[in-house]
Amino acid sequence: MNILFHCTFSDQAEWFKSLKKKFKGHNFFTIKDKVNYSNINVAIIWNLPNNIFKKLVNVRLIFSLGAGVDHITNLPSYNGIPIIRIKDPNMRERMFNHALSQILNFQLKLTHYQKAQQKKIWLGDSPTPQNKDLRIGILGLGYLGSFVAKKLQKLNYQIIGYKKTHSKLKLSFKVFTGKKINDFISSSDIIVSILPSTEATRDFIDKKFLKKMKKNSLLINIGRGDSLCEKDLLSHLKVNKNCYVSLDVFKKEPLSKKHNFWKHPNIIITPHVAAVSDIESSINYMHDRFVTFKRKGNIESDVNLKKGY
Ligand code: GLV
Repeated sequence: MNILFHCTFSDQAEWFKSLKKKFKGHNFFTIKDKVNYSNINVAIIWNLPNNIFKKLVNVRLIFSLGAGVDHITNLPSYNGIPIIRIKDPNMRERMFNHALSQILNFQLKLTHYQKAQQKKIWLGDSPTPQNKDLRIGILGLGYLGSFVAKKLQKLNYQIIGYKKTHSKLKLSFKVFTGKKINDFISSSDIIVSILPSTEATRDFIDKKFLKKMKKNSLLINIGRGDSLCEKDLLSHLKVNKNCYVSLDVFKKEPLSKKHNFWKHPNIIITPHVAAVSDIESSINYMHDRFVTFKRKGNIESDVNLKKGY
């Protein structure tokens, strides 16, 4: 088969090398090659520009090099070709570790002590909440979100979840749906958003949402940047000095040097690293799906076009 590889990760060369090794016997191309795009059958991509994507008229399968598929579904020329996204236990564990690190940082006031250290101030002790005293709301209960929720619950945190619509998922915690969003927000001490990027999630965390949050609370966004209205967040933080935020994803990445988030005392920024794809396990996963696709001649898409993720 003829496979187009395109990726904007910093370790793209390593990905390419490992892919060629695992998919031995298939022909790999990148956009640097003089390739007749209509001969490409499979695309393995992250952030392929639309002007190239639209030339892939005979592609029958697309692999997303991450868990997210918005970089494909948002392309004007995307017309429903099956997409397989990475579902990797290593990625879930990374996501959980990242969320836990931010929860503990808030719970144990670590940033607060670090700032005091810079000024050589000995703040003395004060009791911090026990895990069982903190209610964590998980926004988005897909492959990653439901795992993060379950792992946090095992650590004795109180867990609640929110999903837009009812689902058959059997979960061991209360799940709010639809219009119950306000109850979900106002009863969470910490909200972890793992929402995908779709029409329905755009600016989901806006002025109204933020206003419903507890005065002393933490918002963690490890889903997609466009689910948060950045302007509304900055206005909210002006008057809510005990609202803390940890952001891994942004509307525009990399975050512009001029962005007001960088120096905000209540915001922790990480550069979209919460759940980086693991080369070896991702490639093994993709290869398994590729073998199924070749055997059956088709494959069911991971993406529900109606939902957009
Ligand atoms: C990362 O954001 C991913 O979609 O894998």
